Amino acid sequence: MTIPVKIAGIGFYVPETVITNDDLTKIIDTSDEWIRTRTGIERRHVLSGNESTVDMGIKSAQRAIEKAKINIEDIDLIIAAASVEAHAYPSTACEIQAAIGAKNAACFDITAACSGLIYSMGIARAFIKSESAKTVLVVATDAVSRCLDWTDRTTCVLFGDGSGAMVLTVSDDNQDDILSIDLKAEGQYGNFIKMPITGKNCPLVEPNDEEKMYVKMDGKEVYKYVVTNLPNYIEECVAKSGLKMNEIDYLVPHQANMRIIEALEKRLEFNPDHVISNIQEYANTSAASIPIALVEAIESGKIKLPCSAILTGFGAGMTVGTTVVRLREGIA
Ligand code: ACO
Repeated sequence: MTIPVKIAGIGFYVPETVITNDDLTKIIDTSDEWIRTRTGIERRHVLSGNESTVDMGIKSAQRAIEKAKINIEDIDLIIAAASVEAHAYPSTACEIQAAIGAKNAACFDITAACSGLIYSMGIARAFIKSESAKTVLVVATDAVSRCLDWTDRTTCVLFGDGSGAMVLTVSDDNQDDILSIDLKAEGQYGNFIKMPITGKNCPLVEPNDEEKMYVKMDGKEVYKYVVTNLPNYIEECVAKSGLKMNEIDYLVPHQANMRIIEALEKRLEFNPDHVISNIQEYANTSAASIPIALVEAIESGKIKLPCSAILTGFGAGMTVGTTVVRLREGIA
């Protein structure tokens, strides 16, 4: 018999500083109307001063741990999904470990961009099922605002900063909360979304081409890729879950563009009232967007627990991650 995995607690944190679409008109040639109608975004929360990806991660982790009612010392693995880390090393996971005092945890980071939460859940589940860990803390935390070209109106209006965390542990009642999970990658489309790392060759050799550490995106190609492929990938994952699409209570998609969310909703024939979106408030917070949307919807009563849900993300790579889960009362 395989070990059942419990989703024990979820939390999120976003920075206090808010930038509205109108604020952006002071630095680029854009308008609130263009941004709202093309994306659904009205505002985004961004880091200010020296607050970092790690600081946000610590706060969301503490909230998830509190909800999960576990001892910090029981955490035996921390996985951080962060594309814009405070440091290349130590890892974001190690920095969070030190801050929260999870002294028995192994720590590492993964890079799957906006699919980072689902990829991390897949790894956490494999560790628990293989008895390599009993309690795993996943932290999806990103500060894309630090890596945007704030003169490029085609990218800088789309993103915000934030963090989400989830505690997964061995289930004490035999219920497996992750009914199915599917991770995909199509590296041949890697040029759709890229963020180069800057660095200079040794002065004794031929210099390399230096690129700025900015997000570069072919928005149209991303859009086409997602609306063409994601519904099929979601259907595959639902088929493996043992549930039918119309038996699943909620759809919580990555918050990249309202038009993508509406296209998914139509194609999957999902009840619009059960499709979760808060893109207007936070924009695209990369790996953090699914947990932020999920927790906020639980707190506001839009999602009623217990329930079943599809969580689905896509991002640079291209990577796609989908999971069908059961969410228990008290997790957020
Ligand atoms: N304000 C005003 N005008 C703008 C802006 C702006 N912020 N940005 C672009 N425009 C202009 C363009 O210059 C263009 O003008 P032109 O016709 O004179 O050349 C016009 O608006 C139309 O631009 P398009 O790129 O065709 O606009 P489109 O309708 O395709 O929307 C968008 C662009 C919103 C980026 C859309 O393609 C999209 O959302 N794509 C998906 C993005 C996505 O999901 N990304 C996920 C990232 S996940 C990760 O891992 C990081």
